[in-house]
Amino acid sequence: MKSAILGAACLVLCATAANAATATGGSFGALADGTKIDSVTLANGAGMSVRIITLGATLQSVIVPDKQGRKEDVTLGYDKAQDYLTRPNYFGVSVGRYANRIAKGKFSLDGKTYTLATNDGPNSLHGGAKGFDKRVWKIDAMSSGADAKVTLSYVSADGEEGFPGQMRATVTYTLNEKNELRLDYGATTSKPTVVNLTNHAYFNLSGNAARDVMGHLVTLKAERFTPVDATLIPTGERRPVAGTPFDFRKATPVGARIRDARDTQIRLGRGYDHNFIVDGKAGDLRTAAIVEDPVSGRVMEVRATAPGIQFYTGNFMDGTFFGKNQRSYRQGDAICLEPGVFPDAPNHPDFPSARLNPGQTYVNSMVFAFRTK
Ligand code: GLA
Repeated sequence: MKSAILGAACLVLCATAANAATATGGSFGALADGTKIDSVTLANGAGMSVRIITLGATLQSVIVPDKQGRKEDVTLGYDKAQDYLTRPNYFGVSVGRYANRIAKGKFSLDGKTYTLATNDGPNSLHGGAKGFDKRVWKIDAMSSGADAKVTLSYVSADGEEGFPGQMRATVTYTLNEKNELRLDYGATTSKPTVVNLTNHAYFNLSGNAARDVMGHLVTLKAERFTPVDATLIPTGERRPVAGTPFDFRKATPVGARIRDARDTQIRLGRGYDHNFIVDGKAGDLRTAAIVEDPVSGRVMEVRATAPGIQFYTGNFMDGTFFGKNQRSYRQGDAICLEPGVFPDAPNHPDFPSARLNPGQTYVNSMVFAFRTK
């Protein structure tokens, strides 16, 4: 009898422990035009929680414990939905239809040339004037359990922003009990098109952007990177990182070589704003980067299936806009690590292809795994 009661108690408790990750819906206010924006918070029993909002399927906050157990936000962002439209920084957004640049806003597929809006000097950036980051996505499913999950989708019309084919894009955010946040991007199309979906989170592991990231140690599992021209379009070269400020094969402080103006690529990027070619086989979820903040003890490992990862040090942030908790963000206040195909791949036949055909399913998966040291 006694053991039956204990058994029943264990059933309840064990079920609670095994189902500790929760997905909870909420509101994130409204845009200036009155459009309501919803939120979903994924939380686990290990002290981590993340908030996703329907505007841009954006990762609005990532709260992670430091080595002392202090729970703080490790991403930049805004408190108000409208700021994501007014301020062009792509904080935590889902970028599409094509993350990063397409030279002169033009590319050809099967002999036909497509013209996109040029919203970054002579080039198209992050899907054009109104990319996926500025669209309101739909929440398709959310669930609590051993993992907490939410899936959002956005249907982009044939010809939207100049891209061919109706595209259905999805992203599933999954938080588990190991403090791993996984993002699975997917897409299908009605006509041959190009696609590069990724997340543009700006990480600062100090917590609430207390300090800049120059002392963060970065490891990039990349033997080579793709140098750029003056408009940040890849030249086509795949340059070995050895002997350059781009060698992060061993953990190195972000700030150690960021001002080394002897290197033309540092000059052109105003620091780091480059695609690194991730070692190993694209398609395998492999470690691409490790970031460590020695002060807070927070460590983030990025695993990715993509062939490349854009490493950007917030070089365009100039202190003229204010993020969460009335914090002013400046150059070097965050690290972006955006897994994807290479910038301008549609104009480089020898880069891994960004083409998607009807009947195929595009997949881009990444994991941001947190621990302390
Ligand atoms: C990417 C680009 C940068 C910049 C940011 C957004 O990371 O590579 O040049 O445009 O997005 O500000």
